[in-house]
Amino acid sequence: MAAGCVGGVKVGIIQFLWHYSKVLESKWLRYLKRIMNFATITKILFVGFLSLLLPACDGPSHGRDANPFHLPPEGFVGNKATGKALYSQNCLVCHGVGAQGSNQGPPLLDNIYNPRHHADLAFHLAVKNGVRAHHWKFGDMQPMPGISPETVGHIVAYVRDIQRKAGIE
Ligand code: HEC
Repeated sequence: MAAGCVGGVKVGIIQFLWHYSKVLESKWLRYLKRIMNFATITKILFVGFLSLLLPACDGPSHGRDANPFHLPPEGFVGNKATGKALYSQNCLVCHGVGAQGSNQGPPLLDNIYNPRHHADLAFHLAVKNGVRAHHWKFGDMQPMPGISPETVGHIVAYVRDIQRKAGIE
């Protein structure tokens, strides 16, 4: 169960207790008791309680980011050929043919992007959050919200492959 879901369940329990106490002290209960027995009332409230939990467990909840590092699922293996095509579509315009750079962005084949200085996580975060200009004079890289964690994973496989071939390890 995701952390957001557990948090949501706690909120759900508190909401339930609050609603339940309101019902117990209200004139509605006297009215309900006239038309159904206590077990039925409890069952109805319980169903209401479950329906409070469902939205909490349905993906990102309460403003929490379910995937803050924009990582693909565990066990995902990037494919460098797929990555090359995805790189061409999404990154080439700035990072250049073969990641050699352009007048809009730095070469990812530069030694500062070796895996020890810029781990794969740096790629996932660059796409998710953008990059504040700090190594170069090209300006900031904007976040790329349309790019999935898996797409970045494939692109990383491609970039690491051509980095290795260029002796950047
Ligand atoms: C519109 C231009 C542009 C596009 C498109 C773009 N980038 Fe960038 N990117 C930049 C610039 C500029 C920087 C350098 C910022 C600096 O350090 O000065 C950068 C930096 C990076 C960095 C270094 C991050 C760090 O922590 O220093 C990575 C990794 C990166 N880009 C990956 C990507 C990937 C992957 C794509 C495609 C999905 C992509 N970029 C698309 C402009 C772009």
